[in-house]
Amino acid sequence: MSTPEIPKIPVAPGFSFRVGAHVIGPATALAPMEGVTDRPFRNLIRDLGGCGLTVTEFISSEALSRQARRAWQMTELDPNEHPVSIQIYGRDPARMADAARLCQDTGADFVDLNLGCPSKNVTSGCAGSALLREPERAKEIFAAVAGALRVPLTVKMRLGWDRENMNAPEIARMAVDAGAQMIAVHGRTKACLYRGHADWASVRKVKEAVGVPVLVNGDILTVHDADRALEQSGADGVMVGRGVLRDPWLLRRIAEHRAGVDLYEPSLEERRAVLFRYYDLIVHDRSDLPERYALGKLKKITGYFTRGLPFGARLREATFTSDSVQAVYDGANAWFDFLLERGIKDGFGRVFAEADPRYKPDDARRLDPREDMVEAPSA
Ligand SMILES: Cc1cc2nc3c(=O)[nH]c(=O)nc-3n(C[C@H](O)[C@H](O)[C@H](O)COP(=O)(O)O)c2cc1C
Repeated sequence: MSTPEIPKIPVAPGFSFRVGAHVIGPATALAPMEGVTDRPFRNLIRDLGGCGLTVTEFISSEALSRQARRAWQMTELDPNEHPVSIQIYGRDPARMADAARLCQDTGADFVDLNLGCPSKNVTSGCAGSALLREPERAKEIFAAVAGALRVPLTVKMRLGWDRENMNAPEIARMAVDAGAQMIAVHGRTKACLYRGHADWASVRKVKEAVGVPVLVNGDILTVHDADRALEQSGADGVMVGRGVLRDPWLLRRIAEHRAGVDLYEPSLEERRAVLFRYYDLIVHDRSDLPERYALGKLKKITGYFTRGLPFGARLREATFTSDSVQAVYDGANAWFDFLLERGIKDGFGRVFAEADPRYKPDDARRLDPREDMVEAPSA
């Protein structure tokens, strides 16, 4: 498969920062997402331009130190994927230190600690966001991991366990005192899960508490959200997850917007090409596994990709009922053709709402799949 040339996006003055030997410029990061930000997806987004940093899915430090095959595979990086961070989670300082060292040895530019995951699987083992309730344990982990690394340690966290315990500034300071060189903050508490809206203003307290770069994260869906999040938080850069799943060009557009150049508007055909490139990467990346592995991933990614898009439910339905990889490709091709037949060549105004006055900005804010555009009767 040929690799496209990465478009060179101008970097706005001040929209870059340094972590160790690396310049993150533009100051945009693809957020870690389990089951999504694997090597193919990270490459895909990087190749579209405007992505300053990628982060792997979180990896269990326990599985890594046991040398579990799947965990090892998750640490595989591409030679041209830099700077890149490998994220780990766990609660045992010694194991976390071992795992961090292994990540460094596989070529990670940074090792990131997860203090944000709210999932029961992780918090019941008292890792992820559960560590926000155990500052002493978190401190031991920071010290052990920082002591084990030559590359920078970074931390991703939520604002706290709940609204009554928003201790992110203290935890962040603790991490930085131990040696952490960048902090990313999802503007929600563990108790919020994904409800409500990210509280970008509260991220400012973390920024004011530490002297290292801070990334603001949560609910950034448009270039204007990025502006607001940066303004309210005072952060040095943005980290975006779900927004990139719907609009893979979002990081590029944020970088362009900050630099004051025209925003890139992909055509429908480009969208088709990118989705198919991603499909191809998924299918080729793990060709050692049975077809149902790729099929499951294709279904998942199509679900994210179509949220809020015109007639997105139609493609989701076709994909979810597909029983082979070929059927997914055929269904996606039929969907793009269907849009073209209806003259929808730029039919993604909901996603790019603020750049397209035909759509109300509020429509683009929704991440809930139930909010998809209602199917219009065929012409
Ligand atoms: C499917 C999915 C998987 C996620 N996996 C991780 C993860 O492995 N590590 C992590 O720190 N955060 C994880 N997150 C949280 C995101 O990194 C991010 O903090 C959150 O989605 C809010 O940002 P967004 O609104 O830009 O998506 C995940 C989120 C989603 C939606």
